Amino acid sequence: MVVLRLKLAGETSEVTVEHSNPFRPTFGRPPHTLVGRDDAMGRFRAAMSVGPNHPDYSMLLKGPRGSGKTVLLAAMRDLAEAHGHTAVRVTAKPEPTFADALIEQMASAAGTGHRRVSSAQVSVLGSGAGVSFDVPESRQLSVHTRMLAAMERLADQAPRDSRGALITIDELHNSNIAALREFAHSLQDVTKIDGKPVMFVGAGLASMEETALVDPGMTFFQRIARTQLEPLTVAESAEALRAPIEAGGGTIGDAALADAAAATSGYPFMVQLVGYHSWRRCTDRSSAITREDVAAGIAAAVKDMELQVFAPMVRDLSDIDRRVLAAMSAFDAPEIKLKDLSRVTGKPSNYLSVYIERLVAAGVIHRPARGQLRFVHTTMRDWLQRQPAERGTTACGTPVVTTMTVKERIIADDRADADATHAAIAARLGTSADYVGRVRRGLTG
Ligand SMILES: Nc1ncnc2c1ncn2[C@@H]1O[C@H](COP(=O)(O)OP(=O)(O)OP(=O)(O)O)[C@@H](O)[C@H]1O
Ligand SMILES: [Mg+2]
Repeated sequence: MVVLRLKLAGETSEVTVEHSNPFRPTFGRPPHTLVGRDDAMGRFRAAMSVGPNHPDYSMLLKGPRGSGKTVLLAAMRDLAEAHGHTAVRVTAKPEPTFADALIEQMASAAGTGHRRVSSAQVSVLGSGAGVSFDVPESRQLSVHTRMLAAMERLADQAPRDSRGALITIDELHNSNIAALREFAHSLQDVTKIDGKPVMFVGAGLASMEETALVDPGMTFFQRIARTQLEPLTVAESAEALRAPIEAGGGTIGDAALADAAAATSGYPFMVQLVGYHSWRRCTDRSSAITREDVAAGIAAAVKDMELQVFAPMVRDLSDIDRRVLAAMSAFDAPEIKLKDLSRVTGKPSNYLSVYIERLVAAGVIHRPARGQLRFVHTTMRDWLQRQPAERGTTACGTPVVTTMTVKERIIADDRADADATHAAIAARLGTSADYVGRVRRGLTG
C-alpha cells in the first residue's frame, strides 16, 4: 500500500493506493515473468533465422490445460514481429466455418485486395466484415484453392515488406478436421515444396494426436516437430514468483518463497494463483511476504484450482475414464502401480491401458515409470476423495444412492471381493495383499 499526500485547493488529504497485484491467474494472460521456456523459444528463434529448411520451421506445442501454450504462442508472435515478420493468430474451432476464418485471417494479414467487401464475403469472428479476394466469386472456388491462394499471398508479400510470416493456431485439438487438413496441405506446398517463408506453430492438448492429427490426410502434421511443455522446475517456479513480487515493490523471504514454489508442482497456472493469493494476504507492502501469508495463499490457490481446473477437467472425461480416475483416488501413495489398480477394479491391465492413455492425453495423470501412474496435480486426489456422492452422481460420474465419499464407495464395492479389498489396503500400506489377507483372517503372529 502507498499513501499519497495530495494538496488540493489548499487542503491536504491522504489517498491510499493499493500496489497492483503483479500476478495474472487468468488463462491466456501473459505472465509478468515468463520462465522456463528457453528451449522452445531457442528452437523457434533458430528456425526463424534459418528459414523453411529448419526442422522446427513448422512446430506443434503440446501441453495440458494451464501449462502455458497460449502465452508461449504470444511470446513467439512478439519475437517474430520484432524481427520483421507478419504474425497471424487463429484459434481453432470445430465448425466448418473455421476454414473461412483461417483464409480470412491470412488474406487480411497479407493485405489482399485492400479489404474489398464483395458478395463473396464471409462473416467470421463476429466481425461481420468480409474480405474478398482478387478473384471474383471466390466462394465458388474450392476451400483448397482459396486456402492455398491466401497462404501464397501471405508468403509473397513477405519479401517486400517483411522477412516472412508466422501463423499460430491455438486449441488445435478443437479443430475442424477438414479445415485443418486443407491448411496442412497448403502449408506443405508453400513451405516445403516452394520454400516460401511461412512459419507455423500450433498448440493444443496432447489428445490432438488421437483426434485432429490421426486423420490420414494429416501426414504432414504427423511428422512436424513437437515441443512438450514440461512442468517448470522448482527454481523456475521460484523465479516466476520472486520477479513479479519484487517488480511490484514487494519482497518475500527465502523460506516463504521455497514453500510457495514447492506448492506449485511446476504448474504455471498454479504459480500465478499462489503468487496472486500470497500477495493479497500480505497487506503491508513495507514488510516481506511471510510463510503464513504463503500458507493462506496456497489454500486459496488450491480452491481456485479445484473450481477452475479439476472440475472442468473431470467434466470433459468419459464415464469410464472417470471411474478409473475414482479408483486411482482411493490410493494414498503418490505412485500407483498399474497392477494394483487392475486388482482394485477387477479389470485387466490391457483393458485399463486404453483409459489410462486417455487420462494421460487429457493431462490428468502421467506415467513416471513403466507400470506406474501418478496424478499430474497432487492435490487432485484429495479433491476427488472429498467429492460427496450427491444428487445421484459423483464428480466421477458413477450413479450412487448414498452420501458416501468416492473412497468409501470403492471400499464398499470391493467388500464383496476380498482379494481386491486386500490388494487396495496393501497398496495403501505399501505391503503385500497376501500379508493383509493373513492379518484380516487373524493368521499372523
Ligand atoms: N512460463 C510461464 N511462466 C509463468 N507463468 C506462466 C507461464 N506460462 C503460463 N503462465 C501462466 O499460466 C496461466 C495459463 O497459461 P495459458 O493460458 O497460456 O495456458 P494454456 O496451456 O494455454 O491453457 P489452456 O489449455 O487451458 O488454454 C496464465 O495465467 C499464464 O500467465
Ligand atoms: Mg490456451
